[in-house]
Amino acid sequence: MPESQFSASTSSSSAPLPLRPEVENLDESGIVEVWKLGFSRDDVVGLWVGEGDLPTPDFISDPAIAALKSGETFYSQKRGIPAVRKALADYSAPLYGFRPDEERITLTQGGMNAMIVVLQAFLRPGDRVAIVSPIWPNIVSAVQLMGGEPVQLSLDHGPTGGFELDLNKLEDLLKTGVRALFIATPGNPTGWMLDEAGIAGVLSLTRKYGVWLMTDEVYNRFTYERRSAPSFLSQAEPEEPVIAVNSFSKAWAMTGWRLGWIVHPPMLGDVFDKIIEFNTSGAQAFLQHGAVAALKDGEPFVTEMVERCRRGRDLIYQGLADLPRVTLANPPGAFYSFFKVDGVEDSLAFAKRLVHEVGVGLAPGSAFGPGGEGHLRLCFASSEARLGTALERMRPLLS
Ligand SMILES: Cc1ncc(COP(=O)(O)O)c(C=O)c1O
Repeated sequence: MPESQFSASTSSSSAPLPLRPEVENLDESGIVEVWKLGFSRDDVVGLWVGEGDLPTPDFISDPAIAALKSGETFYSQKRGIPAVRKALADYSAPLYGFRPDEERITLTQGGMNAMIVVLQAFLRPGDRVAIVSPIWPNIVSAVQLMGGEPVQLSLDHGPTGGFELDLNKLEDLLKTGVRALFIATPGNPTGWMLDEAGIAGVLSLTRKYGVWLMTDEVYNRFTYERRSAPSFLSQAEPEEPVIAVNSFSKAWAMTGWRLGWIVHPPMLGDVFDKIIEFNTSGAQAFLQHGAVAALKDGEPFVTEMVERCRRGRDLIYQGLADLPRVTLANPPGAFYSFFKVDGVEDSLAFAKRLVHEVGVGLAPGSAFGPGGEGHLRLCFASSEARLGTALERMRPLLS
């Protein structure tokens, strides 16, 4: 009889259990590490995580509550109820310049779950995934968790303090053999965004090297110089290996609902149907009625949300740009200010200081990959009053 894999560890209560190496090697997010220090403190102005301070509006919550009360409490379609997939296709049409077939749309339990489900479809153990960074760390960990190897490609600093993607460097990386490329545009934490020409350039490279392209459009409505961010889907053929993940979290103030979606080649519909069965088995049917309302009636709210963020962005820019130690650009997209502070070499330690000494919660730049150290990320999707207080408290430490 083979020796039990637990025999070594059962003798001591403190011995570790034999987990998968991918799990043992998972790092805690640096954002969460700072957030834990102060999320329960009322005196801290927390601008560390990626959500605003507005609750979900009633026009979205009411239909979900009504559906719950009317008995929509059973198992349901794994890729979303037909009404939500139809509403997603209708909603997408003006943004993409074409209406994606409903067969190309799959509802998920949030953008995070969308990313895991997509990776489960194509990532093989040991596959390398190129990730344009600084980037929200969850995608890096998700690749590791799935047994892949993330390879980060840092954006360059542009002449005006913003960020730029060097297509030559991207090509050099793709040449070395990667299974997939991940790009969030607009990006978190940088707010950097690809224009149509940049999208065409990236797409020509992913085609040339035959890699999957996973694009994150979670912030596609948060743009300050145009109505929405350009999408890879507008330039890709439906059958190409291009998959976009998106979420209800940000544009409709629904972070806690855990609803997102994927737009993908039609042949992957059945694949996602199978994969979702073994993940979440589908999102709650009653919540999806709220999602339908968001998509159908949500444009005024999205406009209000983006305008609120624009005010927050400008306030933070004005409040920090005159500080000689601070380098920042006004981001064209997303809802973060990602600024560099001269003299800060350990952004995690500095973010902890900000919590302890002045009661402001920011995310450390080091959490966002190799290009992030020395920076701090501030989420400006908040009231001007909260942002103003944070600025007033932070300025002495940044001066
Ligand atoms: C770039 C990016 N992608 C995806 C997500 C996931 O959003 P959620 O899981 O809340 O839908 C986030 C959340 O912060 C994000 O910043």
